[in-house]
Amino acid sequence: MAAPADTTDTRFSLPQSALPTAWFNVAPHLSDLFGAPLDPPLHPATREPVGPDDLAPLFAQELIGQEMATDPWIDIPGEVLDVLRLWRPTPLVRARRLEAALGTPARIYFKDESVSPAGSHKPNSAVPQAFYNAKEGITRLTTETGAGQWGTALSFACAQYDVECAVYMVRKSFEQKPYRKVIMETWGGTVVPSPIDDPSHPGSLGAAISDAVRDAVGRDDTHYALGSVLNHVLLHQTVIGLEAQQQLESAGETRPDVVIAPCGGGSNLGGIALPFLPDPSVRLLAAEPASCPTLTQGRYEYDYGDTAGFTPLMNMYTLGHDFVPPGIHAGGLRYHGDSPIISKLVHEGRMEAVAHRQRAVFEANVLFARVEGKVPAPEAGHGIASVIQEANDATAKGEERVILFNYCGHGLLDLAAYQEYLAGDLVDEP
Ligand SMILES: Cc1ncc(COP(=O)(O)O)c(C=O)c1O
Repeated sequence: MAAPADTTDTRFSLPQSALPTAWFNVAPHLSDLFGAPLDPPLHPATREPVGPDDLAPLFAQELIGQEMATDPWIDIPGEVLDVLRLWRPTPLVRARRLEAALGTPARIYFKDESVSPAGSHKPNSAVPQAFYNAKEGITRLTTETGAGQWGTALSFACAQYDVECAVYMVRKSFEQKPYRKVIMETWGGTVVPSPIDDPSHPGSLGAAISDAVRDAVGRDDTHYALGSVLNHVLLHQTVIGLEAQQQLESAGETRPDVVIAPCGGGSNLGGIALPFLPDPSVRLLAAEPASCPTLTQGRYEYDYGDTAGFTPLMNMYTLGHDFVPPGIHAGGLRYHGDSPIISKLVHEGRMEAVAHRQRAVFEANVLFARVEGKVPAPEAGHGIASVIQEANDATAKGEERVILFNYCGHGLLDLAAYQEYLAGDLVDEP
Protein backbone atom coordinates (compact mmCIF):
# COMPACT_ATOMS: atom_id res chain seq x y z
CA MET A 1 0.00 0.00 0.00
CA ALA A 2 1.49 3.38 -0.96
CA ALA A 3 1.71 6.22 1.54
CA PRO A 4 -1.05 8.78 0.86
CA ALA A 5 0.39 11.26 -1.65
CA ASP A 6 -1.04 14.36 0.05
CA THR A 7 0.39 13.78 3.51
CA THR A 8 3.22 15.89 4.83
CA ASP A 9 3.77 13.91 8.03
CA THR A 10 7.39 13.32 8.85
CA ARG A 11 7.29 11.79 12.35
CA PHE A 12 5.48 8.60 13.28
CA SER A 13 5.48 8.33 17.05
CA LEU A 14 4.04 5.52 19.14
CA PRO A 15 2.34 5.94 22.52
CA GLN A 16 4.35 4.61 25.45
CA SER A 17 1.79 1.82 25.79
CA ALA A 18 3.01 0.47 22.42
CA LEU A 19 6.53 -0.21 23.74
CA PRO A 20 7.23 -3.88 22.93
CA THR A 21 6.99 -6.11 26.03
CA ALA A 22 8.87 -9.07 24.54
CA TRP A 23 12.06 -9.34 22.47
CA PHE A 24 12.03 -11.12 19.09
CA ASN A 25 14.30 -14.18 19.16
CA VAL A 26 15.60 -14.98 15.69
CA ALA A 27 17.01 -18.41 16.66
CA PRO A 28 13.94 -20.51 15.70
CA HIS A 29 13.64 -18.60 12.41
CA LEU A 30 17.29 -19.34 11.55
CA SER A 31 16.71 -23.04 12.25
CA ASP A 32 13.61 -23.01 10.00
CA LEU A 33 15.35 -21.11 7.20
CA PHE A 34 18.65 -22.99 7.14
CA GLY A 35 17.61 -26.38 8.54
CA ALA A 36 19.99 -26.22 11.53
CA PRO A 37 20.68 -23.98 14.54
CA LEU A 38 23.65 -21.62 14.59
CA ASP A 39 27.05 -23.30 15.05
CA PRO A 40 27.91 -23.28 18.77
CA PRO A 41 30.71 -21.16 20.25
CA LEU A 42 33.80 -23.24 21.11
CA HIS A 43 35.90 -23.19 24.28
CA PRO A 44 39.23 -21.40 23.59
CA ALA A 45 41.28 -24.17 25.27
CA THR A 46 39.43 -27.38 24.35
CA ARG A 47 37.68 -26.29 21.14
CA GLU A 48 34.59 -28.15 22.42
CA PRO A 49 31.19 -26.38 22.40
CA VAL A 50 30.89 -24.10 25.44
CA GLY A 51 28.21 -24.80 28.03
CA PRO A 52 26.51 -22.41 30.48
CA ASP A 53 29.13 -23.18 33.18
CA ASP A 54 31.95 -21.97 30.92
CA LEU A 55 30.25 -18.59 30.54
CA ALA A 56 29.21 -18.18 34.19
CA PRO A 57 32.39 -16.32 35.32
CA LEU A 58 31.57 -13.59 32.80
CA PHE A 59 27.80 -13.32 32.34
CA ALA A 60 24.58 -13.37 34.37
CA GLN A 61 22.61 -16.64 34.17
CA GLU A 62 19.62 -14.98 32.50
CA LEU A 63 21.88 -13.61 29.75
CA ILE A 64 23.50 -17.02 29.22
CA GLY A 65 20.00 -18.47 28.92
CA GLN A 66 19.07 -15.85 26.32
CA GLU A 67 22.26 -16.56 24.39
CA MET A 68 21.09 -20.14 23.84
CA ALA A 69 17.29 -19.61 23.91
CA THR A 70 15.06 -21.16 21.26
CA ASP A 71 11.71 -19.60 22.34
CA PRO A 72 10.39 -17.23 19.69
CA TRP A 73 9.68 -14.42 22.18
CA ILE A 74 11.37 -13.48 25.45
CA ASP A 75 9.56 -11.25 27.95
CA ILE A 76 11.19 -7.94 28.85
CA PRO A 77 11.23 -7.53 32.66
CA GLY A 78 9.15 -4.67 34.08
CA GLU A 79 12.23 -3.13 35.74
CA VAL A 80 13.87 -2.92 32.29
CA LEU A 81 10.76 -1.46 30.64
CA ASP A 82 10.66 1.22 33.36
CA VAL A 83 14.09 2.47 32.23
CA LEU A 84 13.52 2.00 28.47
CA ARG A 85 10.43 4.20 28.87
CA LEU A 86 12.74 7.18 29.54
CA TRP A 87 13.16 7.47 25.74
CA ARG A 88 11.27 4.63 24.03
CA PRO A 89 9.43 4.18 21.74
CA THR A 90 11.78 6.20 19.52
CA PRO A 91 10.33 8.12 16.56
CA LEU A 92 10.21 6.80 13.01
CA VAL A 93 10.97 9.71 10.69
CA ARG A 94 10.25 10.00 6.99
CA ALA A 95 13.28 11.75 5.48
CA ARG A 96 11.25 13.78 2.98
CA ARG A 97 13.88 16.49 2.69
CA LEU A 98 16.56 13.93 1.89
CA GLU A 99 14.21 12.38 -0.70
CA ALA A 100 13.74 15.84 -2.25
CA ALA A 101 17.48 16.57 -2.25
CA LEU A 102 18.11 13.28 -4.05
CA GLY A 103 15.13 13.75 -6.38
CA THR A 104 14.11 10.16 -5.78
CA PRO A 105 10.75 8.40 -5.95
CA ALA A 106 11.99 6.20 -3.05
CA ARG A 107 10.35 6.72 0.34
CA ILE A 108 13.05 6.88 3.00
CA TYR A 109 12.34 6.26 6.70
CA PHE A 110 14.70 6.19 9.63
CA LYS A 111 14.37 4.98 13.18
CA ASP A 112 15.85 7.69 15.41
CA GLU A 113 17.88 5.88 18.06
CA SER A 114 19.88 9.04 18.76
CA VAL A 115 17.20 10.19 21.23
CA SER A 116 18.38 7.80 23.96
CA PRO A 117 20.22 9.27 26.99
CA ALA A 118 23.56 8.06 25.60
CA GLY A 119 22.77 9.24 22.06
CA SER A 120 22.67 5.82 20.35
CA HIS A 121 20.95 2.43 20.25
CA LYS A 122 23.41 1.00 22.77
CA PRO A 123 21.32 1.50 25.96
CA ASN A 124 18.72 -0.96 24.58
CA SER A 125 21.07 -3.76 25.61
CA ALA A 126 23.07 -1.98 28.33
CA VAL A 127 19.93 -1.62 30.47
CA PRO A 128 18.90 -5.30 30.52
CA GLN A 129 22.54 -6.41 30.92
CA ALA A 130 23.02 -4.16 33.98
CA PHE A 131 19.62 -5.25 35.35
CA TYR A 132 20.21 -9.03 35.12
CA ASN A 133 23.68 -8.69 36.68
CA ALA A 134 22.41 -6.51 39.54
CA LYS A 135 19.60 -9.02 40.15
CA GLU A 136 22.24 -11.74 40.54
CA GLY A 137 24.18 -9.71 43.12
CA ILE A 138 26.97 -8.55 40.82
CA THR A 139 28.16 -5.09 41.91
CA ARG A 140 30.67 -4.25 39.17
CA LEU A 141 30.75 -4.60 35.36
CA THR A 142 33.70 -4.22 33.00
CA THR A 143 33.45 -3.53 29.31
CA GLU A 144 35.22 -2.30 26.20
CA THR A 145 34.18 0.66 24.11
CA GLY A 146 35.22 1.70 20.61
CA ALA A 147 33.53 4.95 19.67
CA GLY A 148 32.64 5.48 23.31
CA GLN A 149 28.93 4.91 22.71
CA TRP A 150 28.73 1.51 24.39
CA GLY A 151 30.79 2.57 27.41
CA THR A 152 28.54 5.61 27.73
CA ALA A 153 25.43 3.46 27.51
CA LEU A 154 26.68 0.96 30.08
CA SER A 155 27.71 3.74 32.49
CA PHE A 156 24.17 5.14 32.24
CA ALA A 157 22.60 1.68 32.68
CA CYS A 158 24.78 0.79 35.68
CA ALA A 159 23.76 4.05 37.36
CA GLN A 160 20.11 2.88 37.14
CA TYR A 161 20.80 -0.28 39.19
CA ASP A 162 23.64 0.91 41.46
CA VAL A 163 26.37 -1.13 39.75
CA GLU A 164 29.99 0.10 39.29
CA CYS A 165 31.14 0.37 35.67
CA ALA A 166 34.78 0.09 34.48
CA VAL A 167 35.31 0.94 30.81
CA TYR A 168 38.36 0.09 28.68
CA MET A 169 38.28 2.54 25.79
CA VAL A 170 40.17 2.00 22.52
CA ARG A 171 43.10 4.44 22.85
CA LYS A 172 42.60 6.11 19.48
CA SER A 173 38.98 7.02 20.39
CA PHE A 174 39.98 7.95 23.96
CA GLU A 175 42.27 10.60 22.43
CA GLN A 176 39.82 11.67 19.69
CA LYS A 177 36.77 12.03 21.95
CA PRO A 178 37.64 13.48 25.37
CA TYR A 179 34.04 14.41 26.17
CA ARG A 180 32.98 10.76 26.04
CA LYS A 181 35.03 10.22 29.20
CA VAL A 182 33.29 13.14 30.87
CA ILE A 183 29.83 11.70 30.16
CA MET A 184 30.83 8.27 31.41
CA GLU A 185 32.23 9.78 34.60
CA THR A 186 29.11 11.91 35.04
CA TRP A 187 27.12 8.67 35.22
CA GLY A 188 29.67 7.24 37.65
CA GLY A 189 31.73 5.08 35.28
CA THR A 190 35.53 4.96 35.22
CA VAL A 191 37.44 5.00 31.93
CA VAL A 192 40.98 3.96 30.99
CA PRO A 193 42.61 3.80 27.53
CA SER A 194 43.31 0.35 26.06
CA PRO A 195 45.53 -1.57 25.54
CA ILE A 196 46.52 -0.83 29.12
CA ASP A 197 49.98 -2.39 28.72
CA ASP A 198 51.05 -0.52 25.56
CA PRO A 199 50.57 3.29 25.56
CA SER A 200 51.97 3.58 22.01
CA HIS A 201 49.27 1.29 20.52
CA PRO A 202 46.13 2.89 18.95
CA GLY A 203 44.08 -0.01 20.28
CA SER A 204 41.25 -2.01 18.80
CA LEU A 205 37.96 -3.40 20.02
CA GLY A 206 39.53 -6.86 20.17
CA ALA A 207 42.31 -5.65 22.48
CA ALA A 208 39.90 -3.70 24.70
CA ILE A 209 37.72 -6.82 25.06
CA SER A 210 40.82 -8.71 26.26
CA ASP A 211 41.50 -6.02 28.89
CA ALA A 212 37.89 -6.03 30.12
CA VAL A 213 37.62 -9.84 30.24
CA ARG A 214 40.95 -10.16 32.07
CA ASP A 215 39.69 -7.73 34.71
CA ALA A 216 36.30 -9.47 35.13
CA VAL A 217 37.60 -13.03 35.52
CA GLY A 218 39.92 -11.89 38.29
CA ARG A 219 37.14 -10.74 40.66
CA ASP A 220 34.10 -12.46 42.19
CA ASP A 221 32.04 -9.27 42.40
CA THR A 222 32.59 -8.48 38.70
CA HIS A 223 31.09 -9.61 35.41
CA TYR A 224 31.79 -8.53 31.86
CA ALA A 225 29.32 -6.89 29.44
CA LEU A 226 29.68 -6.98 25.66
CA GLY A 227 28.00 -4.28 23.59
CA SER A 228 27.51 -6.22 20.38
CA VAL A 229 28.17 -9.50 18.53
CA LEU A 230 26.49 -11.92 20.95
CA ASN A 231 23.00 -13.32 20.38
CA HIS A 232 21.56 -11.77 23.54
CA VAL A 233 22.73 -8.30 22.53
CA LEU A 234 21.01 -8.53 19.14
CA LEU A 235 17.94 -9.91 20.94
CA HIS A 236 17.72 -6.82 23.17
CA GLN A 237 18.06 -4.53 20.17
CA THR A 238 14.99 -6.00 18.40
CA VAL A 239 12.77 -3.40 20.10
CA ILE A 240 13.96 -1.14 17.25
CA GLY A 241 12.57 -3.28 14.43
CA LEU A 242 9.43 -4.22 16.38
CA GLU A 243 8.54 -0.57 16.91
CA ALA A 244 9.40 0.24 13.28
CA GLN A 245 6.92 -2.40 12.07
CA GLN A 246 4.07 -0.68 13.94
CA GLN A 247 5.19 2.78 12.81
CA LEU A 248 5.55 1.87 9.13
CA GLU A 249 2.00 0.61 9.24
CA SER A 250 0.80 3.93 10.63
CA ALA A 251 2.75 5.64 7.81
CA GLY A 252 0.69 3.63 5.33
CA GLU A 253 3.41 1.18 4.32
CA THR A 254 2.92 -2.57 4.11
CA ARG A 255 6.62 -3.37 4.43
CA PRO A 256 10.02 -1.88 3.65
CA ASP A 257 11.67 -3.11 0.44
CA VAL A 258 15.07 -2.85 2.06
CA VAL A 259 16.31 -2.44 5.64
CA ILE A 260 19.76 -0.87 6.04
CA ALA A 261 22.07 -0.30 9.00
CA PRO A 262 25.76 0.15 9.68
CA CYS A 263 27.49 -2.95 10.98
CA GLY A 264 30.33 -3.10 13.49
CA GLY A 265 29.52 -6.17 15.56
CA GLY A 266 25.98 -6.30 14.20
CA SER A 267 23.77 -5.17 17.08
CA ASN A 268 21.96 -2.15 15.63
CA LEU A 269 21.65 -3.92 12.28
CA GLY A 270 20.25 -7.03 13.95
CA GLY A 271 17.96 -4.88 16.05
CA ILE A 272 16.26 -3.20 13.12
CA ALA A 273 16.51 -6.05 10.59
CA LEU A 274 15.83 -9.34 12.39
CA PRO A 275 12.09 -8.79 13.00
CA PHE A 276 11.74 -8.44 9.20
CA LEU A 277 13.64 -11.68 8.48
CA PRO A 278 10.55 -13.91 8.23
CA ASP A 279 9.31 -11.85 5.23
CA PRO A 280 11.43 -13.02 2.27
CA SER A 281 10.43 -9.98 0.20
CA VAL A 282 12.33 -7.63 2.53
CA ARG A 283 16.01 -7.19 1.56
CA LEU A 284 18.46 -6.74 4.44
CA LEU A 285 21.67 -4.77 3.95
CA ALA A 286 24.78 -4.27 6.11
CA ALA A 287 27.02 -1.22 5.61
CA GLU A 288 30.61 -1.45 6.83
CA PRO A 289 33.87 0.52 6.46
CA ALA A 290 36.17 -0.30 3.54
CA SER A 291 39.08 -0.16 6.01
CA CYS A 292 37.60 -2.90 8.21
CA PRO A 293 35.71 -4.97 5.62
CA THR A 294 34.73 -7.94 7.76
CA LEU A 295 31.63 -9.04 5.85
CA THR A 296 32.78 -8.10 2.36
CA GLN A 297 36.34 -9.42 2.55
CA GLY A 298 36.67 -11.52 5.71
CA ARG A 299 36.78 -15.32 5.94
CA TYR A 300 33.80 -17.26 7.33
CA GLU A 301 35.42 -19.42 10.01
CA TYR A 302 35.83 -19.93 13.75
CA ASP A 303 37.86 -17.17 15.42
CA TYR A 304 38.30 -15.57 18.82
CA GLY A 305 36.18 -12.56 19.76
CA ASP A 306 39.19 -10.76 21.23
CA THR A 307 42.83 -10.19 20.37
CA ALA A 308 44.40 -12.19 23.19
CA GLY A 309 42.27 -15.31 22.62
CA PHE A 310 40.47 -15.33 26.02
CA THR A 311 36.94 -15.50 24.59
CA PRO A 312 35.19 -18.48 23.01
CA LEU A 313 35.69 -18.99 19.29
CA MET A 314 32.67 -18.10 17.17
CA ASN A 315 31.82 -19.07 13.61
CA MET A 316 31.71 -15.69 11.93
CA TYR A 317 33.19 -13.48 9.24
CA THR A 318 36.59 -12.36 10.51
CA LEU A 319 39.65 -10.48 9.37
CA GLY A 320 41.70 -12.40 11.96
CA HIS A 321 41.65 -11.65 15.70
CA ASP A 322 45.02 -9.87 15.49
CA PHE A 323 43.82 -7.50 12.73
CA VAL A 324 44.30 -3.85 13.75
CA PRO A 325 42.07 -1.61 11.63
CA PRO A 326 43.19 1.89 10.64
CA GLY A 327 42.11 4.61 13.09
CA ILE A 328 38.99 5.75 11.24
CA HIS A 329 36.50 8.01 13.00
CA ALA A 330 33.79 5.34 13.06
CA GLY A 331 35.45 3.69 16.07
CA GLY A 332 32.40 1.48 16.65
CA LEU A 333 32.95 -0.24 13.31
CA ARG A 334 36.61 -1.13 13.93
CA TYR A 335 36.03 -4.78 14.87
CA HIS A 336 37.76 -7.76 13.26
CA GLY A 337 34.75 -10.09 13.58
CA ASP A 338 30.99 -9.95 13.43
CA SER A 339 27.89 -11.34 15.04
CA PRO A 340 27.45 -15.06 14.25
CA ILE A 341 23.78 -14.33 13.41
CA ILE A 342 24.65 -11.58 10.92
CA SER A 343 27.55 -13.65 9.53
CA LYS A 344 25.26 -16.62 8.93
CA LEU A 345 22.69 -14.45 7.12
CA VAL A 346 25.38 -12.98 4.86
CA HIS A 347 27.00 -16.38 4.28
CA GLU A 348 23.65 -17.87 3.26
CA GLY A 349 22.89 -14.94 0.95
CA ARG A 350 19.88 -13.71 2.99
CA MET A 351 21.66 -10.43 3.81
CA GLU A 352 23.75 -8.20 1.53
CA ALA A 353 26.86 -6.27 2.60
CA VAL A 354 28.56 -3.20 1.12
CA ALA A 355 31.65 -1.26 2.21
CA HIS A 356 32.16 2.52 2.17
CA ARG A 357 35.26 4.68 2.39
CA GLN A 358 35.54 7.33 5.10
CA ARG A 359 35.27 10.45 2.92
CA ALA A 360 32.16 9.16 1.15
CA VAL A 361 30.65 8.51 4.57
CA PHE A 362 31.25 12.08 5.71
CA GLU A 363 29.91 13.43 2.41
CA ALA A 364 26.69 11.49 3.11
CA ASN A 365 26.64 12.70 6.72
CA VAL A 366 27.03 16.35 5.77
CA LEU A 367 24.26 16.11 3.16
CA PHE A 368 22.02 14.44 5.77
CA ALA A 369 22.85 17.11 8.36
CA ARG A 370 22.09 19.92 5.92
CA VAL A 371 18.71 18.58 4.76
CA GLU A 372 17.41 16.66 7.80
CA GLY A 373 19.13 18.76 10.46
CA LYS A 374 20.65 15.91 12.43
CA VAL A 375 24.43 15.48 12.70
CA PRO A 376 25.03 11.72 12.43
CA ALA A 377 27.59 9.61 14.25
CA PRO A 378 30.36 8.51 11.85
CA GLU A 379 29.04 4.94 12.20
CA ALA A 380 25.54 6.02 11.14
CA GLY A 381 26.98 7.62 8.00
CA HIS A 382 27.84 4.19 6.61
CA GLY A 383 24.14 3.38 6.60
CA ILE A 384 23.28 6.77 5.12
CA ALA A 385 25.81 6.27 2.30
CA SER A 386 24.04 2.99 1.47
CA VAL A 387 20.63 4.65 1.68
CA ILE A 388 21.75 7.22 -0.89
CA GLN A 389 23.00 4.44 -3.21
CA GLU A 390 19.69 2.59 -2.86
CA ALA A 391 17.67 5.76 -3.48
CA ASN A 392 19.74 6.63 -6.57
CA ASP A 393 19.28 3.09 -7.86
CA ALA A 394 15.51 3.38 -7.30
CA THR A 395 15.57 6.69 -9.20
CA ALA A 396 17.45 5.14 -12.12
CA LYS A 397 14.92 2.31 -12.26
CA GLY A 398 11.90 4.57 -11.63
CA GLU A 399 10.93 2.54 -8.54
CA GLU A 400 8.98 3.70 -5.49
CA ARG A 401 11.31 1.75 -3.19
CA VAL A 402 10.60 1.90 0.55
CA ILE A 403 13.90 2.23 2.40
CA LEU A 404 14.12 1.84 6.17
CA PHE A 405 17.38 2.60 7.94
CA ASN A 406 18.66 2.82 11.47
CA TYR A 407 19.84 6.24 12.54
CA CYS A 408 21.87 4.54 15.24
CA GLY A 409 23.43 7.58 16.88
CA HIS A 410 24.18 11.29 16.74
CA GLY A 411 27.63 12.71 16.14
CA LEU A 412 27.55 15.64 18.54
CA LEU A 413 30.57 14.22 20.37
CA ASP A 414 32.33 13.42 17.09
CA LEU A 415 32.82 17.00 15.97
CA ALA A 416 36.59 16.65 15.68
CA ALA A 417 35.90 14.31 12.76
CA TYR A 418 33.60 16.86 11.13
CA GLN A 419 36.18 19.58 11.70
CA GLU A 420 38.77 17.49 9.87
CA TYR A 421 36.37 16.72 7.01
CA LEU A 422 35.23 20.33 6.61
CA ALA A 423 38.85 21.54 6.60
CA GLY A 424 39.58 19.09 3.76
CA ASP A 425 42.00 17.14 5.96
CA LEU A 426 40.08 13.87 6.24
CA VAL A 427 41.93 11.23 4.30
CA ASP A 428 40.69 7.96 2.95
CA GLU A 429 42.35 5.18 4.85
CA PRO A 430 44.75 3.01 2.81
C1 LIG B 1 26.57 4.85 16.96
C2 LIG B 1 27.07 3.47 16.70
N1 LIG B 1 26.60 2.80 15.65
C3 LIG B 1 27.01 1.56 15.35
C4 LIG B 1 27.94 0.92 16.13
C5 LIG B 1 28.39 -0.43 15.73
O1 LIG B 1 28.00 -1.42 16.61
P1 LIG B 1 26.90 -2.45 16.21
O2 LIG B 1 27.26 -3.04 14.89
O3 LIG B 1 26.91 -3.44 17.31
O4 LIG B 1 25.60 -1.72 16.16
C6 LIG B 1 28.47 1.56 17.25
C7 LIG B 1 29.43 0.88 18.11
O5 LIG B 1 30.03 1.42 18.98
C8 LIG B 1 28.02 2.86 17.54
O6 LIG B 1 28.50 3.52 18.59
